[in-house]
Amino acid sequence: MEKTENLLDKIVSLCKRRGFIYPSAEIYGGFAGFWDYGPYGFALKNNIKQLWWKMFVADREDMYGIDAAQITKHDVLQASGHVGGFSDPLADGSRFNTMFRTSAGAGEDAQTAYLRPETAQGIFTNFKNIVDSFHPELPFGIAQIGKAFRNEISPRDFIFRAREFEQMEVEYFVKPNEWMLAFEFWQKKMHEWISAVGIDATKAHELEVPDSERAHYSKRTIDFEFDFPFGRKELYGLAYRTDFDLSNHAKASRVELSYLDEETKTKITPHVIEPSLGVDRTVLAVLCSAYFEDELGGEKRVVLKLKPAIAPIKVAVFPLLKNKPELVKKAREIFTDLKIAIGAVVFDDNGNIGKRYRRQDEIGTPFCITVDFDSLENGDATVRDRDSGKQERVAIPDLATRIQKDS
Ligand code: GAP
Repeated sequence: MEKTENLLDKIVSLCKRRGFIYPSAEIYGGFAGFWDYGPYGFALKNNIKQLWWKMFVADREDMYGIDAAQITKHDVLQASGHVGGFSDPLADGSRFNTMFRTSAGAGEDAQTAYLRPETAQGIFTNFKNIVDSFHPELPFGIAQIGKAFRNEISPRDFIFRAREFEQMEVEYFVKPNEWMLAFEFWQKKMHEWISAVGIDATKAHELEVPDSERAHYSKRTIDFEFDFPFGRKELYGLAYRTDFDLSNHAKASRVELSYLDEETKTKITPHVIEPSLGVDRTVLAVLCSAYFEDELGGEKRVVLKLKPAIAPIKVAVFPLLKNKPELVKKAREIFTDLKIAIGAVVFDDNGNIGKRYRRQDEIGTPFCITVDFDSLENGDATVRDRDSGKQERVAIPDLATRIQKDS
């Protein structure tokens, strides 16, 4: 089981060849900082988002999910500090605001707007809506998964630094004196997530971000870094945003953004802990963790050892031989049943069995089922495990349960 040199090049090439991720506008020479997800990459990304939503939102009672607009009113980003401060230095010493600016409406009605640089602001501007509609008690969180846009001066390292990317964010509202407890809670949860999604935990590290390098809104930040092939770089951030955003939006909008503490009958502005996770960086860290070149049964192979829960395809079904109609018929029956039970299932009868295994290993399919002549006699089929190559015979009616047990 070897990790390889030029790991990033190999991953980029696999992603393109096997339909995970393509350079955007490739037929026009590409478009720096933009990437298109193909069928397997899209499935992998969706599975990652679903797992995150389950762990951070759906399994909990104190979370509210939203999906806010991506184009954001100027006033919002003015109040949040992004219009004035969301900039990177250029080579000549001037600063460049990395928000994409656009305008909404025509003619005299046109107003400046921005593609959101973080999903967080859509959460803060909906704080009052959630409080009014759901009357949650502190602490509670509002969560969102969605696109964010930054006109990065030098996009690089594949999907690591892109100009259009996706974030999974929680703004967790707490009583001001309870921020440390919540910070520690989410810190632990992020470690739990790293293991659950299949990122190599031995390559993930925490970095306490010093005062001088923290974002304008943060009083404490921990960066979760990962040993990418191009160095140790930020994977996620966990920030204590204090009441910076709610207070600034309240001031600028002149709408009260407070919370009535039932115990003390006083109004408070909640403080915020923010776990912020990039989807695309998760995809890249997962791929870096899962990519192996090894030997199985004397044959070299490339394998993605993805957690079954996020694998784009859960199971592939093969007839042992393509030219035996009875095998093909049985295999197609199994495929159809599994498609209903499991969904992400493919049928493959191209080339020999060895080649089919290699193709599935390369995209991280945890199980392959082969239908052979014994299957017709005994009503069972071979289930082959991606990582060990081990095969077991399973009765056809039990196949779905067998696969789901480990997915
Ligand atoms: N709301 C807080 C926030 O946006 P950030 O550290 O600027 O904080 C959070 O971004 C996460 O978003 C990062 O840890 C990273 O995972 C992801 N991210 C940021 N910029 C990115 C980029 N240019 N390309 C891909 N992912 C990015």
